[in-house]
Amino acid sequence: MVQGAKIISTGSATPSVKVSNEQMSSIVDTSDEWIFTRTGIKERRLLTEYGQSVTDLAVQASLQAMESISMDPSNIDLIILATSSPNDLFGSASKVQYKIGAVNACAFDLTAACSGFVISVVTASQFIFNGTYKNILVVGADVLSKWVDWSDRGTCILFGDAAGAVIIQSCSSNLNSILNFHLSTDGNYADYLSIAYKQQLDPHPILNLYQGSFQHISMNGKEVYKFAVSQVPLSIISCLDQINMSIEDVDWLLMHQANERILMAVAEKLSISSNKIISNLSKYGNTSAASIPLALNEVVQKNKISTDDIIVIAGFGAGLTWGTIVLRW
Ligand code: ACO
Repeated sequence: MVQGAKIISTGSATPSVKVSNEQMSSIVDTSDEWIFTRTGIKERRLLTEYGQSVTDLAVQASLQAMESISMDPSNIDLIILATSSPNDLFGSASKVQYKIGAVNACAFDLTAACSGFVISVVTASQFIFNGTYKNILVVGADVLSKWVDWSDRGTCILFGDAAGAVIIQSCSSNLNSILNFHLSTDGNYADYLSIAYKQQLDPHPILNLYQGSFQHISMNGKEVYKFAVSQVPLSIISCLDQINMSIEDVDWLLMHQANERILMAVAEKLSISSNKIISNLSKYGNTSAASIPLALNEVVQKNKISTDDIIVIAGFGAGLTWGTIVLRW
C-alpha cells in the first residue's frame, strides 16, 4: 500500500550569542547600512562556546521537535542530518542518534549545503512512501562560522549558526501532505560557492601522495544571486505545474533564507504577494541547511499556518543544487 508522509512536528535551536551588524563593523570594513540594504540581515547567532558543535544544536532542535508531540525517541526509525559542517568527516548524525536516545534509528549525514534540508525531506519521504519507515527525524544544522574567513567582508557578514528539525510520519495516502517535489543540480558551477579541499604542494616522501586541508568559504556572490533568482522560480513553477497548481494556490512561500533581496526578486518574478513570503533572516543571517526548518518552526510556533495551507519550500545553494517541495499543511 502506498503511504503518505506528513510533517507532524518542528523544533529549532540557535546559539545565545548575537552579533549585530555594528559589531561586524569592528571586525571588517563594513557598516550596518551596507549589510542591511544588500542582504536584509541585522544580526546573526554564532556558536562561540568551546567544545560546542553542530551536534549540540542538532540535538536541541531534535529534542524540541520530539517533546512538542511527546514522542518517545525509540519510535524514530531514521535520522537524516543535513549539514555541511559536521564535527567529524565520517558524519555527525550518529552522535545525534545517541544523544537523543533514538536507539532504534539508523542515522546518516546528507551533504548538500543550503539545499540539504529540502533534499533530506525528499529522501525521507521516499522511505515513508514505500512503507519502509514510519517516523523520520530530519535535521538541518550548520555551524558555518567555523569555515568563514573572518577577514573576508564579502562573505563573513552573511552567515549564522543554527539548527532546525522536523518529524515526518507516515499517514494514509489521502492525508498525504508532501504533494510534489523537484530537485536539480548543475555541478558546472560548483566553484561559485565552496569550501574547497586544498592539497599541499609537497607529497609524502615515500608514498608520493598529497594530503591537504579544507579552506574557508569562497563565493562568487553576483553569480550565486543570478543563479538563485533565475532557477528558483522555474523550479517552483514546474513543481506546481506537474500537480495542476498555480502560484494563486500557494499560501506560503518558504525559501532558503540566504538574502532578502533574493527572496523579494523571486517573489516578484512569481508575482506572489510579499505577505506570503516567510522571512526571518534579519535575525539569523544565512544559516545554510538550518534556515528553512528554523523559519518553519518560527511560523508554526506563532500559529501562522493553518490546516490545509499550501506551502512551497525552496532550497538553493552550493553544488549548485536547488529544489522545491509543495506540501499541504
Ligand atoms: N561591506 C562593505 N562593502 C562591501 C562588503 C561589506 N560587507 N562586501 C563587499 N563590499 C564591497 C566590495 O568590496 C565592492 O567594492 P568595490 O566596488 O570597491 O570593489 C562592493 O562592495 C560591491 O561588491 P560586490 O561583491 O559586487 O557586492 P554585491 O552588490 O554583489 O553584494 C552580496 C554582495 C550581498 C553577497 C550579493 O552578491 C548577493 O546578494 N549575492 C547572493 C549570494 C548570497 O546570498 N550568498 C549567500 C550564500 S549562498 C546561498 O546560501 C545560496
